[in-house]
Amino acid sequence: TQHAAIELLRATRILPVVTVTSAEQGVAVARALQSGGLKAIEITLRTPAAIDAIAAVKRDVAGIAVGAGTVLTPQQIDAARAAGAEFLVTPGTPPAMAEALTTCGLPAVPGAATPTELLALHARGFRVCKLFPASAVGGLPLVRALQAPLADVLLCPTGGIGEGDAAQYLAERNVVCVGGSWMVRADWIADGRYDLVSEATARSLAAIA
Ligand code: 3PG
Repeated sequence: TQHAAIELLRATRILPVVTVTSAEQGVAVARALQSGGLKAIEITLRTPAAIDAIAAVKRDVAGIAVGAGTVLTPQQIDAARAAGAEFLVTPGTPPAMAEALTTCGLPAVPGAATPTELLALHARGFRVCKLFPASAVGGLPLVRALQAPLADVLLCPTGGIGEGDAAQYLAERNVVCVGGSWMVRADWIADGRYDLVSEATARSLAAIA
């Protein structure tokens, strides 16, 4: 499942971190991201609608992998899987969550912010981790500083990354994907401006091509 996680992140290159207030919003955002060129969508479990949104995207939008983000508890792993989530992302990964992710059978991208946390996850078999919150804990200099000592640890930096610096992160050899919400701004979603989501997505993918 670590192989599957790496393949999924490599395929999409940019992982949109999406927060929705209804299942319909989830479907509309997923379609907009897909028309902009993305292959995956992470729906955060930060709203009551998130689980229904994951199920709706899984049911109604073919050709995009839907995952659950902000997964904080083993119970949320079960709920996300039951809804049809195809992958899981955590912002941080205490030992009980690392264990639950290992046994759940779904591709997982566990969050970590320090060398010690990254090495603990690597020792448990995780080959790619979400570096979070990437810009706040050190940004590009941190990503580069990890390359020599943590040569086998692949990263999906997320948190504070934007259209302007995604390409710089992706140019680093330990980065397989970058995550973020810059192309799924809350005001655009609230206003139904899914056209802007598609445009920002396409622009971001053009910038990293
Ligand atoms: C996350 O949970 O990964 C973040 O909310 C995404 O970070 P960003 O909103 O700063 O892009």
